[in-house]
Amino acid sequence: MKKATKFLTMTLAMVMTVCTLTACGGAAKGNTLTFGTNAEFPPFEYVTSNGAIGEYDGIDMAIAKQIAEDNGMTAAMENMEFDSLLVALQNGQIDAVIAGMTATDERKETVDFSTPYYTATQVMIVREDSDITAATDMADKKICVIQGYTGEICVQDMGYTYEAFKKGTEAVMELVNGKCDVVVIDSATAKKYVGDNEGLKIVEDPGAFESEEYAIAVQKGNTELLDKINKSIDKMLADGTVNELAVKYTEEATAE
Ligand code: ARG
Repeated sequence: MKKATKFLTMTLAMVMTVCTLTACGGAAKGNTLTFGTNAEFPPFEYVTSNGAIGEYDGIDMAIAKQIAEDNGMTAAMENMEFDSLLVALQNGQIDAVIAGMTATDERKETVDFSTPYYTATQVMIVREDSDITAATDMADKKICVIQGYTGEICVQDMGYTYEAFKKGTEAVMELVNGKCDVVVIDSATAKKYVGDNEGLKIVEDPGAFESEEYAIAVQKGNTELLDKINKSIDKMLADGTVNELAVKYTEEATAE
């Protein structure tokens, strides 16, 4: 019996050591700040060979890395579907979400958002020969959106029917292949797709699409982490870091 107890204690100690080393059992372990993202959204997050955080690069990834560093921590990134991010945050799988995520009133009901760090708007990507010049022109067109993005909500609110895709690249391929007429998506990402594909252009309609603010999400009530994140963001906004990153990654992502 004694032997068994000793064995048990040793095993337990070993398991605990492994847990601290690998951060198993959830987020906020030791010195790691675990962010969730959906790396399908250049120039904010995309997969590359040698990114700011492992294989992940983009404006958000550089910001996340800096936030962790400012707080003496190391940033880790978990890549998942955009739709799963807020669920993963709420069940503690990740500490924060950084994903070009618009701080909408609806999302604010379930999570808390940091100081906004970027302003964007929805735009329409169309083929160069398209006769779409305003959002109302989409009424009788085949519209593509990305599932769970604010672009989907906008088109829904306008009362138009649409098809939703999992990835921006999939929707853009439909457009390039003539299977849909317009993709509604965030401005900076749209620019990247238009730069990558021949024969596409962007149509803006500021009267129809309100401006959106990107912010980092934390669990409701996690003021301790939110304060740390906000201090870091405020600093990066004030000293021009965010601007520099936006310029750097917009150029880089387009040149790739
Ligand atoms: N800004 C839009 C939203 O909040 C799209 C964000 C998509 N981000 C991503 N990492 N896939 O819904």
